[in-house]
Amino acid sequence: MGQDNDKFAGLSKEQLDAHWMAFTGNRQFKQDPRLIVAADGRYYTDARGRRIFDGLSGLWTCGIGHGRAEITEAISKQASQLDYSPSFQFGHPKAFELAHRITQWMPEGLNRVFFTGSGSESVETALKIARGYWRKKGMASKTRFIGREKGYHGVNFGGISVGGIGANRAIYGQGIEAGHLPHTMIADNQFSKGIPLNGAYLANELEDMIALYDASNIAAVIVEPLAGSAGVIPPPAGYLQQLRDICTKHNILLIFDEVITAFGRMGDKTGAAAFDVVPDIMTTAKQLTNGVIPMGAVISKQEIYDCFMQQGGPEYMLELPHGYTYSAHPVACAAGLASLDILENEQLPQRVKAMAPKFEEMLHSLKGSPHVTDIRNYGFAGALSLAAKDGQPALRPYLVAMAMWEKGFYVRYGGDTIQIGLPFTVEVSEIDSLINALAECLQEVA
Ligand SMILES: Cc1ncc(COP(=O)(O)O)c(C=O)c1O
Repeated sequence: MGQDNDKFAGLSKEQLDAHWMAFTGNRQFKQDPRLIVAADGRYYTDARGRRIFDGLSGLWTCGIGHGRAEITEAISKQASQLDYSPSFQFGHPKAFELAHRITQWMPEGLNRVFFTGSGSESVETALKIARGYWRKKGMASKTRFIGREKGYHGVNFGGISVGGIGANRAIYGQGIEAGHLPHTMIADNQFSKGIPLNGAYLANELEDMIALYDASNIAAVIVEPLAGSAGVIPPPAGYLQQLRDICTKHNILLIFDEVITAFGRMGDKTGAAAFDVVPDIMTTAKQLTNGVIPMGAVISKQEIYDCFMQQGGPEYMLELPHGYTYSAHPVACAAGLASLDILENEQLPQRVKAMAPKFEEMLHSLKGSPHVTDIRNYGFAGALSLAAKDGQPALRPYLVAMAMWEKGFYVRYGGDTIQIGLPFTVEVSEIDSLINALAECLQEVA
């Protein structure tokens, strides 16, 4: 291996081998690494010195763009003033400031914020709050969860149990008890622009599941309002409201996993606001700190919080025996406050909403390109489905994403999809270049 080659950034084979990389084909990567060494605005620089357009905003994290001085300065100032503060039984002011700021981004009624370190931790926290809530209310049998096929809720045991991406579950054995609603990526909706018209009826399957398990055994339904990782599946018209109504009717909590959709990507404050349906609990992460420092937040209705307080026993007792060493980390809180400032001051959700139709038009111009079997979009999230190569379903999206990388564009491939998550500050000319490059790659890849 030519380890002195620029591409390897001077790394030795031993160094490459030492890192067991996340969600990565390690063997392939280490032969032909894609090393990123710097980022600025909407572009990365790779080890070969090339500028690469960030077509997924990191991992749906960095909508504001990279290297914003306001965020890095806030982090640096916080680290020098208070670098760490124990999150159990002690607090620091920025945690309360940020919690309050987050509530201003939430639909009315969601006003109690629990901090975590990631999306996966937010999901586990939400599931535990849901079970704990019913137990505190004297309904301890309400333990089962209902997720959805193609759902992604992170990688911990609760998350993979309610999640519906088979490959993420297959090798890990028994999880927690969960059923799954059917996904909504149906043939009738192919090439829908924005919200698809068909499929609200799929929410009725929840009634069938309740008939099977009984509401007395179900704690919560968890869905992404727009499924991201499965390849951008916007909710059919009326579908989320239908889920909301059924959950309310049967006394089941509704959790929206908004790890991708909260804080601007939908062209609104949250997916709940964009789709006009309010859950009981919302999970967030990613865009909260613009991806600069890991952090997540779970936001619950006050009634749920109040129930824990009322049933909490003596006041010196913990009402919720749960939390992370890095919950409300002061540096992450500083990054969160600075990021929300920028999103608000620069009206970035509004910008996403204003430019989304242009993105939609350009993305859908790929209809008719080789291999493309479906295109979906909402806000600044979009995806293509590609026909599988014989016997190798995930190969073609991988080849397209690698061809894009060679042309100077980073996009995500997952399953049979190519996913795009534009930076909120993108210019039309950049969307144009991205889509043109995709069109070329689709032609080039067999
Ligand atoms: C909807 C959703 N939930 C949870 C997660 C997990 O987040 P993390 O990777 O920060 O644990 C993700 C990550 O993509 C996600 O999209």
